[in-house]
Amino acid sequence: METTYVMVKPDGVQRGLIGEIIGRFERKGLKLVGLKSVVPSKETAESHYAVHSERPFYPGLIEFVTSGPVVCMAWNGKDAIAVARTLIGATNGREAAPGTIRGDFGMDMGFNMIHGSDAAETAEFELGLWFPEGLMDWEQTITSWVYE
Ligand code: RTP
Ligand code: MG
Repeated sequence: METTYVMVKPDGVQRGLIGEIIGRFERKGLKLVGLKSVVPSKETAESHYAVHSERPFYPGLIEFVTSGPVVCMAWNGKDAIAVARTLIGATNGREAAPGTIRGDFGMDMGFNMIHGSDAAETAEFELGLWFPEGLMDWEQTITSWVYE
């Protein structure tokens, strides 16, 4: 079992897509082990996107992600990191496949509504960054009906 960090970005919150997005992860069969909404600090946003710090879009990305509330989530399940990326879709909404979150709701690269960790190491880093208080440890009764 893996845990991944997923975040509804400010455009997803502004567009009223929080419930739609959480619903997709829930219905997929992933287990929610962390959930909160915050207005990210500049420091947290900069750490989160540090890998892009030399890219031309970085200053705009930091300004965007700190512009209002985001919804921070931790989802647990088999191959949760890859499963979440599949649900999310390609970075640019215009190219993302229909049925994915970005494919169904997005038309842009910057305003792509949602983030998902891209590897085990980034998931661990991002979960520690956004959930320093730790995650929820609980048994979900439907698990035995989700996995054979
Ligand atoms: P994310 O990290 O947010 O889940 O998205 P991603 O893996 O699909 O994309 P990544 O390459 O990690 O880029 C991080 C975010 O930066 C913005 N971006 N803008 N203007 C541009 O060329 C550009 N490239 C990336 C996007 O908002 C992307 O989600
Ligand atoms: Mg990324």
